[in-house]
Amino acid sequence: MLALGLLSLAGLAAAATPKTVQLQSRVPPKAATVQRRAQNPVTEPLRDFFLGTDLQWYGNITVGTPPQTLTVVFDTGSVSLEVASTLCGEACSNQVQFNASASSSYIPGDGQNYTIAFGTGVGVDPVIDNDYVLTITDIIDIVSIGDLNLGEGYFYLIVNQTSHFNIDPFSGIMGMSPESDFFDGFGLEDVFGMYLTPLAVGNAELTIGGIDTSKFTGNLTYASLPSNAGTFWELPSSQVFVNGQSNSDLTVNQTIIFDSGTSNVLFPTNFTNAIYALISPDIQPYSAEPGTYGIPCSSIPSLDAVISIGFTDQSGVPFNLTIPSSELSVGPFAGNETICQTLINAYDGLSLVGGSLLKHYYRRVLVRLL
Ligand SMILES: *[C@@H]1O[C@H](CO)[C@@H](O)[C@H](O)[C@H]1NC(C)=O
Ligand SMILES: *[C@@H]1O[C@H](CO)[C@@H](O)[C@H](O)[C@H]1NC(C)=O
Ligand SMILES: *[C@@H]1O[C@H](CO)[C@@H](O)[C@H](O)[C@H]1NC(C)=O
Ligand SMILES: *[C@@H]1O[C@H](CO)[C@@H](O)[C@H](O)[C@H]1NC(C)=O
Ligand SMILES: *[C@@H]1O[C@H](CO)[C@@H](O)[C@H](O)[C@H]1NC(C)=O
Ligand SMILES: *[C@@H]1O[C@H](CO)[C@@H](O)[C@H](O)[C@H]1NC(C)=O
Ligand SMILES: *[C@@H]1O[C@H](CO)[C@@H](O)[C@H](O)[C@H]1NC(C)=O
Ligand SMILES: *[C@@H]1O[C@H](CO)[C@@H](O)[C@H](O)[C@H]1NC(C)=O
Ligand SMILES: *[C@@H]1O[C@H](CO)[C@@H](O)[C@H](O)[C@H]1NC(C)=O
Repeated sequence: MLALGLLSLAGLAAAATPKTVQLQSRVPPKAATVQRRAQNPVTEPLRDFFLGTDLQWYGNITVGTPPQTLTVVFDTGSVSLEVASTLCGEACSNQVQFNASASSSYIPGDGQNYTIAFGTGVGVDPVIDNDYVLTITDIIDIVSIGDLNLGEGYFYLIVNQTSHFNIDPFSGIMGMSPESDFFDGFGLEDVFGMYLTPLAVGNAELTIGGIDTSKFTGNLTYASLPSNAGTFWELPSSQVFVNGQSNSDLTVNQTIIFDSGTSNVLFPTNFTNAIYALISPDIQPYSAEPGTYGIPCSSIPSLDAVISIGFTDQSGVPFNLTIPSSELSVGPFAGNETICQTLINAYDGLSLVGGSLLKHYYRRVLVRLL
């Protein structure tokens, strides 16, 4: 998920929220900062939120004293940690709620409400709209992931949310972007590994402070964040191939964001059209959900849709990351069961890949590259 309100992403201004979180107010007081500690890596089993297609992967954290167990999506597209709380009541009725009053280590924040809007491309959905908005208030408390004690940190209680969030089987979102509070505030080790798998494969996991070498074969490929990357895990790409072919429309320099909290792919409209043109002329914009495309579900099995995105590694050697044809269908549109949404959503302003690519690779992320 991309945190729109927090990231003040220029291209997403239209979806901006009435009130955004003030970054300067989110620095924990000195007493709350935590030293880097020599802790062992932890491997956290992840569950797959699956609704016809793999959407997001989430796992347990504990918050407060005594610890309360909550589940969160480990989201490389956002910055902060937000958890459903007992202040949210009925609006978070499907979720386990953190009760701050029951935690002896809870330190209240400024008592104000903020809103944070997320742009998601999760399953059968429009690309960006105002459907995913959290109302939050800031606090400090202790957070752990498995045996890894992250110490005291600054995060947010969800006090209200739009109904789209209430179907989530998880209680919150832990932002793991390069500028995440999660690293800066909690003093973690420098590396994490993400093994996001299709439901049928299972055993998805997040390793923090190391990687799990049993989850891949061969050598990892290392690529550097561009120097201006800022808030995103992103890499420059100069070409995309569809079923082994490319053309001038697909030979475009762009920066592609890797977002574990999104399942679909976002590309600018023209680029999206150029990709679909090489898959099938029958893939057409689906007007009821701007930005999405669809095709009769019955056509999907016969289509080849291998999408390879070209990148360059740290030593200047090109490599591809490939999304197989099996990812083409996101599932039938809720309003039209015979039409299946296709993987790529058009969005002018950014390029982004999510779970549909990440689940075919082991992802080692080196934090604080610079
Ligand atoms: C999360 O914790 C609960 C107990 O609170 C446990 O039943 C569940 O298996 C844990 N889930 C994962 C993915 O570790
Ligand atoms: C939260 O914890 C407090 C203190 O233990 C308790 O009085 C209150 O009933 C709890 N609230 C909910 C909604 O469980
Ligand atoms: C914050 O929002 C919650 C839920 O919408 C509401 O109950 C509460 O009164 C609000 N608090 C403030 C300070 O606005
Ligand atoms: C909670 O959010 C919903 C959806 O945005 C809104 O309709 C409702 O009024 C809010 N509730 C409170 C108490 O603010
Ligand atoms: C992996 O890297 C090592 C050391 O550079 C090299 O010897 C080995 O051949 C590489 N293995 C593969 C499968 O590329
Ligand atoms: C990337 O994929 C395209 C299309 O299959 C292929 O032509 C190209 O050689 C690949 N690049 C690398 C570095 O493997
Ligand atoms: C992409 O960027 C490279 C390096 O800056 C440049 O050589 C190339 O011409 C650019 N390609 C396009 C299509 O603009
Ligand atoms: C998209 O393509 C059209 C037609 O070729 C062109 O006029 C337009 O400028 C392009 N838009 C972008 C954002 O590249
Ligand atoms: C379903 O989609 C098809 C093709 O876009 C369209 O012709 C039809 O009217 C749609 N049906 C409904 C109920 O929206």
